[in-house]
Amino acid sequence: MTSPQLIVGSGAIGRLLAVRLAGVAPVTLLGRRAPPAELTLTSPEGHTLARRLPGATPASLGAPFRGTLHLTTKAYDAQAALDSLAAKLAPDTPLVLWQNGYGVQRTLTQRWGGPVLCATTSEGAYVSEGGVVHAGHGETFLGHLDGEHADLAEQLAALLSHAGLHCRAVGDIDTRLWHKLAVNAAINPLVARWRIRNGQLRDRPFRPLVEALIDELVLVMKAEGIAPPAEGWRARVWRVIEGTANNRASMLQDVLAGRPTEREAILGPLLAAARRHALAAPQLSALYDAAD
Ligand SMILES: NC(=O)c1ccc[n+]([C@@H]2O[C@H](COP(=O)([O-])OP(=O)(O)OC[C@H]3O[C@@H](n4cnc5c(N)ncnc54)[C@H](OP(=O)(O)O)[C@@H]3O)[C@@H](O)[C@H]2O)c1
Repeated sequence: MTSPQLIVGSGAIGRLLAVRLAGVAPVTLLGRRAPPAELTLTSPEGHTLARRLPGATPASLGAPFRGTLHLTTKAYDAQAALDSLAAKLAPDTPLVLWQNGYGVQRTLTQRWGGPVLCATTSEGAYVSEGGVVHAGHGETFLGHLDGEHADLAEQLAALLSHAGLHCRAVGDIDTRLWHKLAVNAAINPLVARWRIRNGQLRDRPFRPLVEALIDELVLVMKAEGIAPPAEGWRARVWRVIEGTANNRASMLQDVLAGRPTEREAILGPLLAAARRHALAAPQLSALYDAAD
């Protein structure tokens, strides 16, 4: 039998995973408050799928939990969410980290006793009343930062794919996380600061700001030893802007809703790298200071 999957964080990605994985594995969805007993998923094609799922809170989770834990909180909540459950988890519990950015990934890989896999996904989802809207299909890559636990990554990627979320185990997740972080850093803080859709970055006065950010990112990535994407940084960033022209980025949605943003997870690692290599990064610094 497939091992139990505990999904911690009853938000957009958590609900998407919960409804999808429940078709192929025993799933528990855990929130700070008890999640709805029945969740509805609206697919990108407009179909609805309703599932009744066991829900839990940190207080009600039965101990010891044995299975795989998917951490699907925002980056700034991840460590606290894990800490609130740690006493109830078998110490060798495998973790899958679904956060954007690059912060908690390295910390937990070093500190957690069990295997830690990181996921980066281009699936798009948002919470709706009683469920989740799967706004767009994407692709998920899964792996250990230092390339360990390849069999586990293969098994989990197969499980997620079987559940309908296209997923591939990879040996270079570290590079993929940095690539996504760099592209996010060129787009998300700017659109959040100016409250614009991604596509507006193509026009003045924003286009030169994006170009200046790419210039800084290229230098930081090179100094950090992160290989550029095959198409080059400039082409990658503009391709993503083109492909998401009509989107309101998650950081903009957070600003509009008065929630904290993931600026630390996205800009923090780049600014730390710039400091390590004595590089000036005035555009990135200004956006960091302007955020939240
Ligand atoms: N949504 C997407 O399309 C998408 C795509 C790619 C990557 N991501 C990344 O995936 C991560 C999750 O994003 P999301 O959009 O799913 O965020 P979200 O909708 O805000 O969901 C996060 C959930 O975590 C819960 N949470 C926070 N602290 C907790 C704790 N201590 N115990 C239990 N639950 C806790 C929150 O609960 P409360 O409601 O109580 O705060 C919230 O329900 C982010 O890093 C994001 O950048 C998202």
